[in-house]
Amino acid sequence: MIENKVILSAPIQGWTDHVWRVAHAQVFGGIDAYYAPFMRVEHGAIRKRDLRDIQPENNPGIHVVPQVLACRASDMALMLQAVADMGYDEVDINLGCPHPPVARKGYGAGMLARHESLVQLTEVLKQWPSLKVSLKLRLGWDDASQWRNVLPMIASCPIERVVVHYRLGVQQYQGEAMLEHIEATLDAIPVPIVLNGDLDSQQSISKLLAQHPRAAGVMLGRALVADPALLCPERATPTHYREFHDRLYEQYRQELTGGDHQILNKMQTLWERMLPNADRRARKAIRKASSLVRYEQAVAQVFGQD
Ligand SMILES: Cc1cc2nc3c(=O)[nH]c(=O)nc-3n(C[C@H](O)[C@H](O)[C@H](O)COP(=O)(O)O)c2cc1C
Repeated sequence: MIENKVILSAPIQGWTDHVWRVAHAQVFGGIDAYYAPFMRVEHGAIRKRDLRDIQPENNPGIHVVPQVLACRASDMALMLQAVADMGYDEVDINLGCPHPPVARKGYGAGMLARHESLVQLTEVLKQWPSLKVSLKLRLGWDDASQWRNVLPMIASCPIERVVVHYRLGVQQYQGEAMLEHIEATLDAIPVPIVLNGDLDSQQSISKLLAQHPRAAGVMLGRALVADPALLCPERATPTHYREFHDRLYEQYRQELTGGDHQILNKMQTLWERMLPNADRRARKAIRKASSLVRYEQAVAQVFGQD
């Protein structure tokens, strides 16, 4: 569809885990790399489910880029070591998480406003010359010029790619992406830049890339979760959506050991974003389902089968 441009799947914590990524690649495809939702350190150790999510055996046949979220150098080093130990040769640094309790402590987008933390991060990255590093950032935490604070890091570390979500951290997901800043980032950042934020159709992707031919590509998040066939309209059929759903459902049934309630919960969460234009009554029945049997009946309604 879009020649010579990279198409990345965005990390969406709670949605684009390994189960989603593998099913997406098998049924729809069209993605050059899937960015995994961030991993982080809690109480001195990396969360187990974060490690499980990126383990290569849980991501067969797909190109995954693990992402780390940290503000302390020691946590960052711990995660970079884990990523390298799993055999990865690339990693993404989260400089975009806008969640206020996290960002106020200097994580994610919060780090963009903290020179000292960025200097520390730069020092850690220099110790990992074997890892190809990308940065995923917002324009800033509370000021749309704060992305410039990463320029010294880019000048002194071998950063391979920068993905920019053109919003401020304080905006969360409100308002429109500030695409008027794209050219300034392309002028100032001397590595390939991938554009992210609110791209929701092939037309909007093509239009944005035509307007900014220097961009290396795009990253797609919520719209790809909503319509996994976004990049391949020929597969936007009930059969393909059903196959995608069934792969997710089967895999979660195998992996989630907390009983039917946990599986139901997981699937209902997925449907909060997936196929928003599906039959309203069927979606409501999915939301209200209190057992897997009822859930399966509601899903059959969505896909026009019984
Ligand atoms: C529920 C949710 C979870 C997200 N989790 C992550 C994450 O783990 N790491 C990250 O870098 N960005 C995360 N993001 C941001 C997305 O990757 C993306 O940058 C943002 O949604 C804008 O792109 P979009 O408009 O295509 O969705 C998350 C966004 C949402 C809505």
